[in-house]
Amino acid sequence: MQFRAVKGMNDILPGEIERWQQLEHSFIRLAKLYGYSEVRTPQLEPLALFQRSIGETTEVVEKQMFSLERGRETLALRPEGTASIVRAYVNHSLFAKQPVSRLFYLGPMFRAEQPQRGRYRQFHQAGCEIFGDPGPACDAELVDMLVLLFQNLGISNLSVEVNSLGDAQAKERYKDLLKAYLLPRAATLSEHARQRLQDNPLRILDSKDPADIEATAGAPSTLDALSDGDREHFNGLCAALDAMGTPYRVNTKLVRGLDYYTRTLFEISSDKGALGTQNALVGGGRYDGLVRELGGPDVPATGFAIGLERVLLAMPEAPQQRAASCYIAPIGEPALHEALRIGRELRARGIVAEVDGRGGSLKSMLRRANALGARLCLILGDEEVKSGSVKLKDLTEHTQTDAPRTQLIERVTQILAAEQNP
Ligand code: HAM
Repeated sequence: MQFRAVKGMNDILPGEIERWQQLEHSFIRLAKLYGYSEVRTPQLEPLALFQRSIGETTEVVEKQMFSLERGRETLALRPEGTASIVRAYVNHSLFAKQPVSRLFYLGPMFRAEQPQRGRYRQFHQAGCEIFGDPGPACDAELVDMLVLLFQNLGISNLSVEVNSLGDAQAKERYKDLLKAYLLPRAATLSEHARQRLQDNPLRILDSKDPADIEATAGAPSTLDALSDGDREHFNGLCAALDAMGTPYRVNTKLVRGLDYYTRTLFEISSDKGALGTQNALVGGGRYDGLVRELGGPDVPATGFAIGLERVLLAMPEAPQQRAASCYIAPIGEPALHEALRIGRELRARGIVAEVDGRGGSLKSMLRRANALGARLCLILGDEEVKSGSVKLKDLTEHTQTDAPRTQLIERVTQILAAEQNP
């Protein structure tokens, strides 16, 4: 008797797992550089948690939950991470410990969708959530962090879209505006959209049906319903993105399919790679009312979740080797020990450094430094150890200088910083 994996759920085998690890490591490293700490929550939660947070009339809750009865409890496999993170944040009173909490998570999520390329029933998300910071600058930093991550992974042709829904009142005002616009056009809408018109008109903007796309083409913009405060927040988001040089486009049709959002919304997609129509790599936004909705105090929050399978489809086939910025080539044992110390000092500064401990010839060490794409090769033998200096070979500029050991770390830092910000 042979069994097959459940429809839409995939095994990840050796040969593929290396790219997963590369992606997960890049994400975790970056999240830590931005000050996030990891949280792990259960994969099963009370079904009501998702009904309450994501919303009863959303596609996810209405059609895609894997739920089960166990005794008197109704449980569900989590379809996303945000609701669980907020539940844990409230349960453990994290708000009482820090005014601002930055949390990240990684793991499988479950949605009973029709499987296709880039869309699965078990998929993986990597997410970041910030609690306690109401300002638009942290929304902008979330977006910029994602652009940096995707660039590091070699993903090109990114499209960054941002929008604002305003606070809970603005959202209601916008729903009314949209309803008023669509009611006279109801006859031209798809059957599904007509049903949505009463309970959740925002979802009509997500419809892929050509009739709905045509009917909503001239619909009012979400920005029309913003209050002065919301508008100031959205302007602050755009100004912070401009200040960082993050590329983006305002898309006033972007509403996203989960009910908890307020104010900032964003999505990043790529048309490169094998993504096809499922090209949203990441979605996110602000959810200032959710902590209170789930029994906590009035704490603003914002975040995103990346779809790891989609990022892997968009990543170049041969994973881009993260070049060792600094290759350290010691000749002889005293030099090797000094090299180990130098390596440690450089990594403490966040500089990628590799020490060649193989004891081979200088020629073979230089060959490896070049193959790795290192910018600098630090060469030291008995003589350098004695005189307290290191030979600094710049593999891009093809120059070589002697640096006093005491100034070495500073010199290396300067050269590599100039490379990143020419
Ligand atoms: P979401 O847009 O539903 O947002 O999902 C985020 C990402 O997960 C999508 O952009 C996509 O890359 C990936 N994804 C979603 N469904 C599937 C699927 N069936 N197969 C493969 N990948 C999928 C959220 O989940 C929010 N919790 C994001 C968030 C965090 N907002 C604020 N904080």
